[in-house]
Amino acid sequence: MSSKKVLITRLIPGIAKTMLTNAGLEVMEWQGDGPMTQQELITQTKQVNALLSLGADKLDKYFFSQCAHLDIIGQFAVGYDNIDIEAASLAGIPVSNTPDVLSEATADVAFGLMMAVSRKMFYNHKTIIRGEWKQFEPLKNLGFQLSGKTLGIFGMGRIGMVMAKRCKGAFDMNIIYHNRTRNREAEMRYGATYVSFEELIRESDVLSVHSVLSEETRGLFNREVFNQMKPSSIFINTSRGGVHNEADLIEALTKGSIWGAGLDVTNPEPMKPNNPLLEMPNVAVLPHIGSATVEARNGMARLAANNIISFYRDGSVPNCINPKVLKTPG
Ligand code: GLV
Repeated sequence: MSSKKVLITRLIPGIAKTMLTNAGLEVMEWQGDGPMTQQELITQTKQVNALLSLGADKLDKYFFSQCAHLDIIGQFAVGYDNIDIEAASLAGIPVSNTPDVLSEATADVAFGLMMAVSRKMFYNHKTIIRGEWKQFEPLKNLGFQLSGKTLGIFGMGRIGMVMAKRCKGAFDMNIIYHNRTRNREAEMRYGATYVSFEELIRESDVLSVHSVLSEETRGLFNREVFNQMKPSSIFINTSRGGVHNEADLIEALTKGSIWGAGLDVTNPEPMKPNNPLLEMPNVAVLPHIGSATVEARNGMARLAANNIISFYRDGSVPNCINPKVLKTPG
């Protein structure tokens, strides 16, 4: 193993470097304050055998045409929409991600956004800074109560499950969901009901997106969908900004097709400071901090490193996205 080199494409918690080094791998770390350009990334990657990548690294067909020599990619994220998995598989490169360890942290942000939007918290905070808090306002700044409302979850995977748990426990919300497959555990534990996509968008008081970004979900939440939602509803997205159409969301909020929105992910990222969403009273936006807890980021660093170490140790990759490329023993 000693001759293998790993490139970590941004500075991440030190545990990853420690684990990789202790396993006998040579580690190169990109020291820059932001992601590399793709050309820089390719130049650097040509010098290594494995990549510990982040979501901002563009690992597309062109990248794989230049870096087909890689043994393994350990992505420091649960999402991997920045990676062309088909191209990686064609090059025979296993790609891994970091599920579970960030589910609590990300669901907490979805839950926090839901609360912040329902009570216009971010907006009210800004009014104090602007010197606009003059007196108690009996008829202004009214939000609404979440207890007993219907939470619709789009994508009942690991993060969606934690969101369901939070909302059931805190507000006894009625949980409905739409997913590629039924999630019996969510049904049993949280009384979640599987519904069609049409029913989900029509019935949800709060609609929280926890799906992956794929060709099926890209731009899915658009004008047509917002028009079918309740005018009193809140749209929450903590998955990927590409799942909603931001111009249509602005229009829906302006027209009142929906009541509010909470976003931890935007399209594009970063969001421009003059985006009209940032001035809307019923909107809360965060700069993609879903997994930003010490616990989650350390967990992600551990998993990403472990996927690479396991591969070099015995050919196994615990969190492999394209396991077909792994050579099975015998
Ligand atoms: C963060 O967005 C992740 O996919 O882990």
